[in-house]
Amino acid sequence: MSNAPITHIDVAAFAADPYPILAEMRRDAPITYVPELKATLITRRDDIHREEKRVHVLSSLQPDGLMTQLMGENMMRKDGEAHMRERRALFPALSPRTVADHWKPMFENATTSILNTLKERKQFDVTTDFAMPVSAAALKAITGLSDMTHAEMDRVSQHMIDGCANYVGIPEITTRCYAATALIDTHIDRMSATPPPKSALAVMQTAGLPIDSIRANIKLVISGGQNEPRAAIAGTVWALLTHPEQLTMIRNGNASYRDAFAEYVRWISPIGMSPRVIAQDDRINGIDFHKGDRVFLMFSSAGRDAQYFEDADQFDITRDTSAAIPFGAGPHFCAGAAASRCLITQVALPMLFDALPDLNLNGPAPFTGWAFRGPTAVPVAR
Ligand code: HEM
Repeated sequence: MSNAPITHIDVAAFAADPYPILAEMRRDAPITYVPELKATLITRRDDIHREEKRVHVLSSLQPDGLMTQLMGENMMRKDGEAHMRERRALFPALSPRTVADHWKPMFENATTSILNTLKERKQFDVTTDFAMPVSAAALKAITGLSDMTHAEMDRVSQHMIDGCANYVGIPEITTRCYAATALIDTHIDRMSATPPPKSALAVMQTAGLPIDSIRANIKLVISGGQNEPRAAIAGTVWALLTHPEQLTMIRNGNASYRDAFAEYVRWISPIGMSPRVIAQDDRINGIDFHKGDRVFLMFSSAGRDAQYFEDADQFDITRDTSAAIPFGAGPHFCAGAAASRCLITQVALPMLFDALPDLNLNGPAPFTGWAFRGPTAVPVAR
C-alpha cells in the first residue's frame, strides 16, 4: 500500500454524495489512501491528467480483477499494443463519421418512436421512460445485438456493473452478473453469422479479433454504453428543469445542448472513477507507491477542481468546461464519446424539449453512486 495520508470514509455517505468528501480530499490530502475502498485516490485534475498517461506505472492490466473474471479480458483492462489493437478494431463502429452518417438517423428514428408513446402521457419518469429506452435503442444498434429488448439491455448492463463493483462478494450479485453475460453470449451467437453492417460485432469480426475478445469487448460496450448515457440524459434534463433560465438560453439560441451536456458531466460525472494498478515502484508528488497498489483516478473530483472551475458546485452552462475530463484523459479515453455526444446533444435533448415543451419536474430526483452516478428517477408532468 502507498504511504499516502489516510482518509476514512463512510461508504454509504460517499455513495449518497461524494462531492463534499472529495472537496476535503482535494484540499487536505489530494492523494489519499482510503482503507474502506482499499485504494489510493488521486483527486486533483492535473494529477489525474498527468498520471493517467504514465501507463508503465499506472497500468490497466488487472487479470485477477472482478471485471476480467466476470466479463472476460476487454480492452479497458489492457495496456500498450494489446489495448490499441482492440481499440483500433472497434473504432470503425464508433468513429465520428460512422456516428454522423450511420447511427444518427437510427438514433432519431428510435427517439421519435419513444416520444410518440410519451406524448400521450401527462406524467412519466425521464430516467426509465425516456433516457433508458433511448440509450438502449442506441446500444442495440451499435453492438449489433438487434434482438435484445430495451429492458434486457438495461438490465444486463446494470447487472454487469453491479457484479464488477461487488468487492464484498455477495453471491446473488455474482449470479445475476453471470446470467447477464450468458444472455449477451446467446445474442452474440445468434447475430454472429450476419452481424448488422458497421456494428461493433461486425467490425471486430472483420478485424479478425478472436471470439473471446469480441465477447469481452461487446460486454464492455454494454456495461459502459447504457448507464452513462442514461444518467447523462436524465441528469441533464433534471439540471435544465431545475435551472429554467438556462433552458431558456438554449431555446433562445444563446447556448446549446452541447454546452448543457458538457457542463452536466463536469458537474456530476456519470463515471466517477477509473481504476489502475501500480506496475512498478514509483513516487508521485512525494508519495511512495509500490507494485500492486490499487489507484482510483477520480474524474468526478477533477470536474470540481477549484484551480479550473470557479463556483464548481454550481451548474452553469455558460462556463468553459474544456479542462473537465469526464471521458478520461489518457489512452483509454472513452471510445464512445462521439456516439454519446451525438445521441445526447443532437438527438435526445433537443427532440425531448421540442416535442414536449411543457415539461415540469413532478417530484424529487434522487441521485446515487460515487463510481457511477446518476438520478434513479426524474419524475415529470405536463
Ligand atoms: C455520457 C456517456 C459516457 C461517459 C461519461 C463515458 C465515460 C467513460 C470513461 C470515464 C471511460 C474510462 C476512461 C479512462 O479510463 O481514461 C470510458 C471508457 C470507455 N467507454 Fe465510455 N462513456 C460514456 C458512454 C459510452 C458509450 C455510449 C460507449 C459505447 C457505445 C462507451 C464505450 C467505452 C469504451 C469501449 C471504453 C473503454 C476504452 C478503452 O479502454 O480504450 N462509452 N468511458
